[in-house]
Amino acid sequence: MSRAPQDAVEAPAAPEAAQAIDWDALDGAALAVRERAHAPYSGYWVGAAILVRSGRVFAGCNVENASYGLTLCAERSAIAQMVAAGERDPIALTVATSGPVLGSPCGMCRQTLAEFAVDLPIRLIAAGGGSVAPRLTSLAALLPEAFGAAALSR
Ligand code: THU
Repeated sequence: MSRAPQDAVEAPAAPEAAQAIDWDALDGAALAVRERAHAPYSGYWVGAAILVRSGRVFAGCNVENASYGLTLCAERSAIAQMVAAGERDPIALTVATSGPVLGSPCGMCRQTLAEFAVDLPIRLIAAGGGSVAPRLTSLAALLPEAFGAAALSR
């Protein structure tokens, strides 16, 4: 796997796992599912693909609603696919949006991801955007000091 110089790692998440990740395949899954987004209100199509430790990939797109507030983000859509399939151990995520500004998981999605991973490498890419450099970040960088179930222990 080659990595472009601009793919700076902000905060490496589980570096031993990151080396084994087929980012090209994960990017492809995120770009493909993005084509199925239901986003007639925002016109902003998002695709997310999660790689789990077993090697399976779960993809999700945003699903908007005429009520607006019921919108489901691509990341939580992918998480739901993962959990429904009986998997709970994500090791990498790619999020594909339109360019030229790279998207980033919203706060609600960051917290939902934190339910299943302490840290996670997250690659942000732009669809059809050869001119937009991908960015590699991590859940720990995007959601430091996350609220977790440990706080609920009594
Ligand atoms: N969206 C996502 O799917 N993921 C994010 O992390 C941010 C926003 C979607 C929700 C809505 O359908 C559209 O992008 C505009 O906010």
